[in-house]
Amino acid sequence: VTPEIGVIGLGTMGANLALNIAEAGHPIAVFNRTPEKTFAFAESAGALSERIVPTESLEAFVAALASPRRILLMVPAGDAVEEQIAALRPLLDAGDILIDGGNSDWQDSTRRHAELGRDGLHFLGLGVSGGAEGARHGPSMMAGGSERAYEAVAPILRDIAARFDGEPCVAYLGSGGAGHFVKTVHNGIEYADMQMIAEVYGLMRDGQGRAMPDMAGVFARWNAGPLESYLIEITVEVLGTSDPETGKPILSVIADRAGQKGTGRWTVMDAQRRAAPLPAVEAAVTARVLSGEGAWRSKGAQLFPDPAAGAIGPLSDEQLEQALLAGKILAYSQGFALLAKAAREEEWSMSLPDVARIWRAGCIIRSGLLDDMATALESAEMDLLAFAPAFSERLTQTLPALRATVAAATLSGLPAPALSSALGHFDLLRQARGTADLIQGLRDRFGAHGFERLDRPGEPGQHGPWTGT
Ligand code: 6PG
Repeated sequence: VTPEIGVIGLGTMGANLALNIAEAGHPIAVFNRTPEKTFAFAESAGALSERIVPTESLEAFVAALASPRRILLMVPAGDAVEEQIAALRPLLDAGDILIDGGNSDWQDSTRRHAELGRDGLHFLGLGVSGGAEGARHGPSMMAGGSERAYEAVAPILRDIAARFDGEPCVAYLGSGGAGHFVKTVHNGIEYADMQMIAEVYGLMRDGQGRAMPDMAGVFARWNAGPLESYLIEITVEVLGTSDPETGKPILSVIADRAGQKGTGRWTVMDAQRRAAPLPAVEAAVTARVLSGEGAWRSKGAQLFPDPAAGAIGPLSDEQLEQALLAGKILAYSQGFALLAKAAREEEWSMSLPDVARIWRAGCIIRSGLLDDMATALESAEMDLLAFAPAFSERLTQTLPALRATVAAATLSGLPAPALSSALGHFDLLRQARGTADLIQGLRDRFGAHGFERLDRPGEPGQHGPWTGT
């Protein structure tokens, strides 16, 4: 068999994508730094191994591929990608296609697209979401870079992608690093989603003193309603799982320090650079950072003791559900606004409804809401999803519960930073006459920075009659 595509890197994601590609009927060459791993992988593939061609060197890998070659890199983002591209480059011919399927920094992908293009090589930066299971049975894929490269690999990508109502969850979103940018924002939203779920879990656990199986039941009910999503589904599983060693709920033995590989932080840094507000993701990143500051938290708990469990008062499960729904809508609204701003600034061709559509299945943030979001974004005159009729109505219904939840958390001293910052940001958005008049007055008073008068629009540089003391 002549492989139609090759995969370099047989870690969990690479190996599973290779099996997925072979299963979809496409012969594939594989290469891993350690030849034993490459051959063991091909042998372990069972019936699929007849479509898998293991190769022992990079030269043999390149030689096995039909021209133009299609090569999918599945190596860790950063130096490993850089080194792999450098090793491959002299072996490739103009017209060959290199696809980076890792969680790369989108700016690296922009640079690689341009650099490789100078040698006539086509580069595709491909964000792949869905974890190990997604890679094996259908991920969501966000493509950016060379449009020709996309056209050349799209048939394979469509065959291996997750499907929503029969539509494959893969799209071309623009040149350079557009695909990796969208994947990064996906991960930022993933951080916010998870943080808000964890905040509500914390309110139930510490504010209402509830047991894990009880909370699992609540999340299971929510998963049958508007919050239906993969993350809620696996929350039910995690809450309901026991530790085989101790028989205790698994969460009671997991250390409360969250890891992060960086994509959430990248999203926030990019948002700040573009002046695109992203408070829910910021709060989620900060909460992960603080989760690692165990010494501060122990000292803080000692100095400022927690209120007793049960202190949160009579918040109903329905209120918590609505609070989570409102928080989620606000977080996604912020995320899509960042995408819109970046797409304008970087001149990417991406369509926001397409982004919502390819997130409907396969990826970690897949949820029932994304289908409605795709429809709303199609007709939204503004980039703000929160203002689209379908969502402004839902927000109007659920905001009272978000306020009640944030207020209860605040009064009882339980943290809900993502929910409350999403709400704080939203309240700024609905304040027609804000308070920046005072900021401007102060700036003019101490630095003569000038302001604009309401009765003389378009004439900045006005000054107050400050006399000082
Ligand atoms: C996905 C995930 C995936 C990975 C994240 C985890 O979409 O499949 O987002 O990319 O699990 O990198 O990120 P952190 O390690 O930063 O939590």
